[in-house]
Amino acid sequence: MNVGHHIEILRREFPILHQKIRGNELVYLDNAATSQKPEAVTASILEYYNQYNSNVHRGAHFLANMATARMEESREVVRSFVVAQSIEEIIFTQGTTDGINLVAYAWGNEHLKEGDEILIATSEHHANIVPWQELCKKTKSILKVIPLQADGSWQENFTEFVGDKTKLVAVGWVSNATGVVHPIREIIKAARKVGAKILIDAAQAVCHFPINVQELDCDWLVFSGHKVFGPTGIGVLYGKKATLESMHVYRTGGEMIDRVSFSGTTFNQLPFKFEAGTPHIEGIIALAEALRWLTNIGWDLIQEIEQSQKVWMQDVINSFHELHWIGMAKERVALFSFVHPTIHAGDIGTLLDQQGIAIRTGHHCTQPLWESMQLPGSARASLSLYNTEQEIMVFKKALAKSLKMLS
Ligand SMILES: Cc1ncc(COP(=O)(O)O)c(C=O)c1O
Repeated sequence: MNVGHHIEILRREFPILHQKIRGNELVYLDNAATSQKPEAVTASILEYYNQYNSNVHRGAHFLANMATARMEESREVVRSFVVAQSIEEIIFTQGTTDGINLVAYAWGNEHLKEGDEILIATSEHHANIVPWQELCKKTKSILKVIPLQADGSWQENFTEFVGDKTKLVAVGWVSNATGVVHPIREIIKAARKVGAKILIDAAQAVCHFPINVQELDCDWLVFSGHKVFGPTGIGVLYGKKATLESMHVYRTGGEMIDRVSFSGTTFNQLPFKFEAGTPHIEGIIALAEALRWLTNIGWDLIQEIEQSQKVWMQDVINSFHELHWIGMAKERVALFSFVHPTIHAGDIGTLLDQQGIAIRTGHHCTQPLWESMQLPGSARASLSLYNTEQEIMVFKKALAKSLKMLS
């Protein structure tokens, strides 16, 4: 079976893709913002509400026990997906942003002091910048930033930014603005040499390649369910057990306690210590369904599809000499950011939308990156497993038409 055939089969599982927008077949190329959901995922949410909706960990009855069992099975699915050592290392969050804030608060406030350094890169999403800026204000730590090269990759001497004062390296694996894959293994090695902690923002990596946190040897890894075929409002914080144990609590209240009395409170064990209140139960169950769905496709096929999509997009890139394609580093995912010298990206996005094509325009929550490139932002087409060669050709034609109209 050729790649195109595999894509067609996968597409059938996404009802949302089979509709017309303004009279045109929908071409959804905004997958870096959020992916669409296969029927297996939406069905798992319906099944939860129609068959065993109940609160968890308070198992006085059949449904509560069933919901708890399904939620904890889901934790095991996530553990296996990221190859963590134990389920105690898997904490459910609201998403990538929430996971990073948890670490900044629960680890950063306790472990950083004046003059300590946190290292990030210019390519970071705001979610991996602002929590550290706030932490630096509180602890008088210093935020250091790896600069970028013209092709969107980190400056070649990036490991030299890691030094004796570095206490944390927090970096994005794949840039949501440029699609560039960053050399996180090398920076982790450099961070380990000086005893710094390491956080990996895998929001854009999680649907592109397999994750093995033990092999990576990071302290934390965060991602969002909605970018990997799961629902919004649910995410994962993987943390090394010893590191999590050294952290103070974050949100407080029900579920995360061991015993509460007016003379003092003791906290629950991992991972519940970091999960205050009623969790996003159906989100957790549906996220596990999404990860099962992805795993069942198999990483070889996933990567074969993406490789073909990159080749198909190459034809589009080559045909528009007037466009400046950003982040064309060798290591990249199927995400394509571009600017026109005179036409505003927002206008391109509007005209494409009128032709049924969904892309993203603007700064993509990476304002410092655009500042460093002296650009206001870009138009971004980001692909997923269900995008066909024909859709890419439709995009090419519609883009040509839009640029002609706007010139
Ligand atoms: C690289 C990266 N980090 C963090 C985030 C924030 O994710 P969320 O809004 O799901 O918390 C995003 C979302 O676009 C992202 O692309």
